[in-house]
Amino acid sequence: MNKNVVKTVVFPVAGRGTRFLPATKASPKEMLPIVDKPLIQYAVEEALEAGADTLVFITGSSKRAIEDHFDTNSELEAMLQAQGKKELLDTLRGILPAWATCVYIRQSAPLGLGHAVLCARPVVGEAPFMVHLADDLIDAEVPCLKQMVEVHRNHGGSVLGVQTVPAQDTDKYGIVSLARGATGRVGRISHIVEKPRPREAPSNLAVVGRYLLSGSIFDDLSQIGAGAGGEIQLTDGIARLMQREPVYAFEFEGKRYDCGSKLGYLQATVEYGLRHTSLGADFAEYLKAFVATL
Ligand code: G1P
Repeated sequence: MNKNVVKTVVFPVAGRGTRFLPATKASPKEMLPIVDKPLIQYAVEEALEAGADTLVFITGSSKRAIEDHFDTNSELEAMLQAQGKKELLDTLRGILPAWATCVYIRQSAPLGLGHAVLCARPVVGEAPFMVHLADDLIDAEVPCLKQMVEVHRNHGGSVLGVQTVPAQDTDKYGIVSLARGATGRVGRISHIVEKPRPREAPSNLAVVGRYLLSGSIFDDLSQIGAGAGGEIQLTDGIARLMQREPVYAFEFEGKRYDCGSKLGYLQATVEYGLRHTSLGADFAEYLKAFVATL
């Protein structure tokens, strides 16, 4: 097999989504829609376009809706068929191509992102794999993970999607600093730390929810203990991996929406609404008139 092909993607979706309560009391935050598609479907589409064919969901309690979303719903399909609603039927059938495989692994306790990723080890094995955090919605001409696969092809090693954030926000992210002499969009990481306070942060270059990781990170994740917030942090596993193998930061092209926050979620809803094929023009007209009344 071509060693540059990355076939498996991990979606850690066990988080409780408390920031969106009560909306997320009984349904997963990853099922929140941006216009008419749930966040997790945007995530899956991005991974498929990057070449993945094995989708590993690390789930927890109250996440059954995700499994149902990517499964066939024969009853609903039969109903749409009987009603002659061909377009909707095609939309449903197009959610997941037949060649993609979904694997669901239950994370038995909320021990952190690093632990969630470690749960995928039995499926991923030793090959490089991708991790996608569905909260971070990235709109890009070339899907972000696809850009990262290309960087991996050219440089090898592991690749993290990064973005400059306001200095006061470093305590929300994994923050990296780059080895001296790094120029352009790809730079080797010399240091990474989880959620440093602004005055302790080595930079304001933040890891957003896209990772292409060497399979050997599982050794690291299985050996680190709890870090920031008392959780097993993916960032700490990466810090350990970096001692043996190169890890690159990649400033991807595209716009990121932090859909883990209500403001970011609303911004994504408005902008995706404006771009929507059948709805965009009407929505733009409405929005212009509405804004004029403010
Ligand atoms: C996680 C990671 C953090 C990363 C962030 C990106 O944090 O631990 O390093 O920068 O995702 O969204 P969380 O947002 O789960 O607190």
